[in-house]
Amino acid sequence: MPTPLPSTRLDGLHALVCGASAGIGRAAALALADAGAELTVLARSADKLAALLPLLLEAGAPAARALVADLDQREHLGRQIASLLEAHGPVQVLVNNTGGPPPAPLLESDEAAFTTAFGRHVLASHLLVRALLPGMRAAGYGRIVNVISLSVREPIPMLGVSNTIRGAMASWAKTLAMELPPGVTVNNVLPGYTDTERLGSLSQAVAARQGLTAEEVQGAWCAQVPEARLGQPAELGAVIAFLASPAAAYLRGASIPVDGGRLRCL
Ligand SMILES: NC(=O)c1ccc[n+]([C@@H]2O[C@H](COP(=O)([O-])OP(=O)(O)OC[C@H]3O[C@@H](n4cnc5c(N)ncnc54)[C@H](OP(=O)(O)O)[C@@H]3O)[C@@H](O)[C@H]2O)c1
Repeated sequence: MPTPLPSTRLDGLHALVCGASAGIGRAAALALADAGAELTVLARSADKLAALLPLLLEAGAPAARALVADLDQREHLGRQIASLLEAHGPVQVLVNNTGGPPPAPLLESDEAAFTTAFGRHVLASHLLVRALLPGMRAAGYGRIVNVISLSVREPIPMLGVSNTIRGAMASWAKTLAMELPPGVTVNNVLPGYTDTERLGSLSQAVAARQGLTAEEVQGAWCAQVPEARLGQPAELGAVIAFLASPAAAYLRGASIPVDGGRLRCL
């Protein structure tokens, strides 16, 4: 008998997806549901999360619930996660994802912009990993997937604070990859230009500075991409769901660009 291929199914696993009310996080939650995972979706917008829950059940999640939480309010977040684990059991799949820092040149950014972004991205992810790791360790299975950015490899103009914080996230994740026990992995996805609200506001900010329209800015972006278009959130969701699955067991500490070929470096 040939050895069966490792599965991409997520039946029996409980996934917590942060920043799930929109964009890439929402698409990741739908992809994980499609693969059979139970979902807890976290964001600040209760109404958007409530609208997502029936779609997750329809996609195939055996159960889905909302956790209305703010990654900036970490003391409260810690208590909310403890209650989640008590009420619904351990989480084996964590997607660390949140809103990107607002666009601005580095030299126009004040100290508060850095500390807020560091807290929302690095400290919130760290808190969640420490809270969820005992359950992952006990299960002998854990998948941590961080949504970061191509700027881990190449800084992006007008995203001074973001570029800085993405580097910190990538270093945090690589260190974590050395410390986590066998069976518990951490990997990063690095989105390229992906068609979400975040990209819409970024193109408007760049357009205002350059005296162009947002459509012209997006057109110029697509011209840098060999696939000649923006990425769709579902295309990021599919990669995240794969990284969460048993099939990705030997991927650890990797940063995977999902960018239509935009990144030129090896
Ligand atoms: N789209 C792109 O082209 C692109 C490219 C490279 C990197 N990225 C990065 O990928 C990540 C996701 O991007 P996206 O385009 O999907 O962003 P998005 O459309 O702006 O969605 C961000 C999500 O994060 C949530 N969020 C923001 N602040 C939060 C907080 N303090 N606490 C809890 N949840 C919070 C938002 O929900 P609530 O407002 O309901 O809380 C929303 O669900 C971002 O870090 C972004 O910078 C995106």
